[in-house]
Amino acid sequence: MNYPDKVEIIDVSPRDGLQNEKQIVPTEVKYELIEGLIGAGIKKLEATSFVSPKWVPQMGDNDELMQLINSNHNRHQEVCYSVLTPNMRGFENTLRYSPDEVVIFGSASETFSQKNINCSIDESIERFAPVAKAAKAAGIKVRGVISCTVGCPYEGEIAPSQVAYVTKRLVESGAEHIGIADTIGVGTPIKVQNALKAAMDYIDVSDISGHFHDTYGQALANILASLSLNVAQFDTSAAGLGGCPYAKGATGNVATEDVVYMLHGMGIETGVDLDKLTIVGQRISDFLGRKNGSKVATAFLKRQ
Ligand code: HMG
Ligand code: MG
Repeated sequence: MNYPDKVEIIDVSPRDGLQNEKQIVPTEVKYELIEGLIGAGIKKLEATSFVSPKWVPQMGDNDELMQLINSNHNRHQEVCYSVLTPNMRGFENTLRYSPDEVVIFGSASETFSQKNINCSIDESIERFAPVAKAAKAAGIKVRGVISCTVGCPYEGEIAPSQVAYVTKRLVESGAEHIGIADTIGVGTPIKVQNALKAAMDYIDVSDISGHFHDTYGQALANILASLSLNVAQFDTSAAGLGGCPYAKGATGNVATEDVVYMLHGMGIETGVDLDKLTIVGQRISDFLGRKNGSKVATAFLKRQ
């Protein structure tokens, strides 16, 4: 098997992780999490989302968080800070904070699109196109993420042709990168490969990432299957936090610690310091009063 020598980890715990918590996490705690991740070697992260606070109150402090990140030279120039922007309103709200990347997030499932962003797939593309155009004009990168690429909580199995359709439309609308997401973690390796291959018909593999929730314990296997197709970028979440409030039953993302352990064990570089990351993941788990969702972190901490 030929695997990539290096993998880029995008830690999404501040956004995907904390959006799914019942409690609203104070801005300072989010900021400390972000700083901890960067201290552990994370070079790209999802800081927050500029969505409606009525829909996702957990991200309602997006202004305060971005102000804190940008204040007093707190921002790390080598780090890519991404934020989610579902429409022009979200983009305009984030522009003053100069994010490095905006994420437009669609779905391969019609019903999930309605439930998550209150519009059809085609309507969502119409909303994303001006965001992509404005972002490019402002020198901001544009990533398109597609939810429910293998399964949907409302529609069941999703055909790769749906993934191909949404990838094509997003790329035509200006997305420079496509994230293939298994929102509810039902995917198994061949199905995930088929979703990735469908995207590859419209965008180079170097601009594709995997985003796998671990609900059914398949995420590491799905990452290995993706690596074998040369996918070398993955969204992961410290301590396995995560889920989507509009995807019932979806649990956490694959834990960053578990992915880094597997990759390092395969001789693949990530630039992440696993000991430091374990402390960061445990700290946020303690704050949330949650069991650490990373098996590797749990084993490391037991050994000490
Ligand atoms: P809508 O209600 O259809 O929007 O929501 P609207 O245009 O009719 O506006 C309604 C109200 O929302 C108005 O305010 C707007 O100003 C306001 P009002 O006049 O009633 O006071 N509004 C906004 N406020 C702040 N920021 C905005 C914004 N836009 C409108 N950007 C909308 C449409 C997309 C806004 C809504 O459905 C929404 O916010 N959805 C977000 C859902 C979400 O964040 N889900 C989780 C992230 S996706 C995910 O987790 C999946 C992922 O991890 C990959 C995977 O795992 O699959 C990425
Ligand atoms: Mg997600």
